[in-house]
Amino acid sequence: MAKTPVLSLQFISTVICLLSLSSFPPSLSLNVETQALLDFKSQLKDPLNVLGSWKESESPCEFSGITCDPLSGKVTAISFDNQSLSGVISPSISALESLMTLWLPSNAISGKLPDGLINCSKLKQLNLTGNKMVGVIPDLSSLRSLEILDLSENYFSGRFPTWVGNLTELLALGLGMNEYHVGEIPESIGNLKNLTWLFLAESYLRGEIPESIFELENLQTLDLSRNKISGQFPKINIQVAKAY
Ligand SMILES: *[C@@H]1O[C@H](CO)[C@@H](O)[C@H](O)[C@H]1NC(C)=O
Ligand SMILES: *[C@@H]1O[C@H](CO)[C@@H](O)[C@H](O)[C@H]1NC(C)=O
Ligand SMILES: *[C@@H]1O[C@H](CO)[C@@H](O)[C@H](O)[C@H]1NC(C)=O
Ligand SMILES: *[C@@H]1O[C@H](CO)[C@@H](O)[C@H](O)[C@H]1NC(C)=O
Ligand SMILES: *[C@@H]1O[C@H](CO)[C@@H](O)[C@H](O)[C@H]1NC(C)=O
Repeated sequence: MAKTPVLSLQFISTVICLLSLSSFPPSLSLNVETQALLDFKSQLKDPLNVLGSWKESESPCEFSGITCDPLSGKVTAISFDNQSLSGVISPSISALESLMTLWLPSNAISGKLPDGLINCSKLKQLNLTGNKMVGVIPDLSSLRSLEILDLSENYFSGRFPTWVGNLTELLALGLGMNEYHVGEIPESIGNLKNLTWLFLAESYLRGEIPESIFELENLQTLDLSRNKISGQFPKINIQVAKAY
């Protein structure tokens, strides 16, 4: 009985301690990923209010368009297809270290693709087709897990991204319909043995098609239309054609 007052004093001091903690500004207690997503939202225009559920008070795993890993609670996917989003992609997404999917096709997003995206080293799917993005595509060749890379139908400029030949896990690669300098199809695309879909239409490409492309046994779709490709179709193509 004599101990009771001591216990309640401890209890009271714990409560006071908790109260003083919770009186810090909310931004200090926001987790890194929530802050990154709210920064991402702040750089976008969202006329359909598809980001309406993105609020400080919610867990990012409750945000629309977000998928989290059920065990770690880390953000693994951001996905908004054809939702009238415009504005730019905030560099803050580089803080999402478990991000595997960034899927924002058919919006009106402009600006550059942030260099910091290479910090999202788990990235498997990057689909930004059908936006208004500009500038040079940053070298993403360190993102070795990429399986889908679709940056087609934008206004990307500069050199054709020859480093894609290092992304050997790629299944689908779309770089077509951009504003590159005149260039050639890199021979190294032949390293992408798992490729099933290759879209390089309207990419200011000239010169010959590297024979290595015709050695890609899994390729089902090859679109090189509206370029200035010259030369003969490699002989090997006939062997591939015969196989079907
Ligand atoms: C986007 O959505 C609009 C309206 O829902 C539709 O008319 C349009 O065809 C869609 N565009 C694409 C590229 O899916
Ligand atoms: C990416 O990671 C590197 C090394 O961890 C760090 O120095 C750099 O600031 C990060 N970049 C961004 C944009 O977060
Ligand atoms: C890409 O591959 C080439 C060889 O095909 C290699 O020389 C180069 O270092 C690689 N780049 C990166 C960033 O790994
Ligand atoms: C291609 O796919 C196979 C089977 O899915 C996989 O084992 C392999 O690691 C992939 N990558 C390359 C470069 O072959
Ligand atoms: C990217 O998204 C668009 C729109 O949903 C889709 O049509 C296209 O097939 C996707 N690209 C790849 C390579 O999956």
